Amino acid sequence: MKGIILAGGDGTRLQPLTFAASKQLAPVYDKPMIYYPLSVLMLAGIQDILVITRPTDLPVFRALLSDGRQLGLNIDYAAQDEPRGIADAFRVGADHIRGEQCALILGDNLFHGANLPTLLHHSVLKMSGCVLFGHEVADPQRFGVAEIDPRGRLVSIEEKPRRPRSNLAIPGMYFFDTHVSDITRDLTPSARGELEITDVLRAYLELGTAELVWLGRGVTWMDTGTHESLLEAGTFVRDVQHRQGIRLACIEEVAMHMGYIAPDDCYALGAEMGTSPYGQYVMERARFFSTGMPPTAFSDDL
Ligand code: G1P
Repeated sequence: MKGIILAGGDGTRLQPLTFAASKQLAPVYDKPMIYYPLSVLMLAGIQDILVITRPTDLPVFRALLSDGRQLGLNIDYAAQDEPRGIADAFRVGADHIRGEQCALILGDNLFHGANLPTLLHHSVLKMSGCVLFGHEVADPQRFGVAEIDPRGRLVSIEEKPRRPRSNLAIPGMYFFDTHVSDITRDLTPSARGELEITDVLRAYLELGTAELVWLGRGVTWMDTGTHESLLEAGTFVRDVQHRQGIRLACIEEVAMHMGYIAPDDCYALGAEMGTSPYGQYVMERARFFSTGMPPTAFSDDL
């Protein structure tokens, strides 16, 4: 399965932070925002990843992640010259997907939770249709919203409705079968001139092949598109890390645990940043891993 991280857009709601730098490079406590969605794709077992950015940001992302080889990944880049909606990712990324299944994650979405790896595994295994997620929120009108019937089946999907039919927001992570490019090709842009992801999901819903998976109480989802939510996400990450002594979305550690790189390679990546607490943590985890860390320790560790 291929992966796409959509890290484009002008980040207008975060200006002036985003005048000169991409939103998805903004710090969420101790690491760039893109580490969080990247680690989710890695945990889903996806190693072939396309990062879509504004043309001006592309060299900076490349400087940060290079070709991904150091993490046992293959990371490619594509430029989106202007924001044309989330579903435009399938047009920009058409060559990358090339008839394969694909996971799309938004570069400003952060997920954390014990059963996340299981949910991701389930989504990757589903061979037809699409998987979207549902998460209860207090302010559904800010998001795509899913309506379900009393038996929990998906009934409707709406983008930022003024009067939401439920409090079930649809987070920015989706898994699609090989038809997604064809479906997107036939899509008409919305009134605001964008290719809406909710229209793609709705097309699958009409085909009867859209599956909604509840994230449930065990998973935390945050988007970081406003000053308030950015700070909230940073505080959340700091609190969990401080309390548990682990780091969330530590891509070097995830790469080692997924078997993409050897513990020695992980250690070397940590040593390169050894003067920072993050670098020391990476070295420490590599040492732990070699000496036999308890196997359950990683399930929470995103
Ligand atoms: C986008 C999607 C929306 C989704 C949200 C998740 O909205 O259009 O359906 O719920 O991401 O973060 P945006 O944040 O781009 O306005």
